[in-house]
Amino acid sequence: MVCLGNICRSPTAEAVLRAKLEAAGLAQHVVVDSAGTGDWHVGSPPDPRSQRHAAKRGYDLSSLRGRQVAEADFHHFDLILAMDDDNLADLRRLAPPGSSRAEVRLFAATAVPDPYTGSAAGFEQVLDLVESAADAWVQNLVDRLGTS
Ligand code: 4NP
Repeated sequence: MVCLGNICRSPTAEAVLRAKLEAAGLAQHVVVDSAGTGDWHVGSPPDPRSQRHAAKRGYDLSSLRGRQVAEADFHHFDLILAMDDDNLADLRRLAPPGSSRAEVRLFAATAVPDPYTGSAAGFEQVLDLVESAADAWVQNLVDRLGTS
């Protein structure tokens, strides 16, 4: 999962999807990670507001650290999921032409808005959108992996 800073939306999505995959018994079949298109927060823990709002719903973001998307990600991952249209456009621009393994798509049916400069409601909205998109991705991954 990829956003701009890798301290709000994509670490939230990483923790939520990982928790839902664990609950579905799929954790050992899927490598979940997150990164940012920007480099300002490389090595930093998630924004304290994201950590606090996520913790209220049972998700622990504290061990995550920011990193920037790298070309290797396009070779390593099957799916790279963008939080908004800007992230999607940046990822498509960064993708190595002709040699990308990854399918690059939006994470949710609608953009997950950047909460960084907004209010507490923005962080709750991120969690609402991320939880419902993660449910859909768990089903998608069940289908991709086969259920037998
Ligand atoms: P994120 O939010 O992309 O959801 O991690 C942001 C965090 C930091 C900045 C922008 C967005 N920033 O400009 O530092």
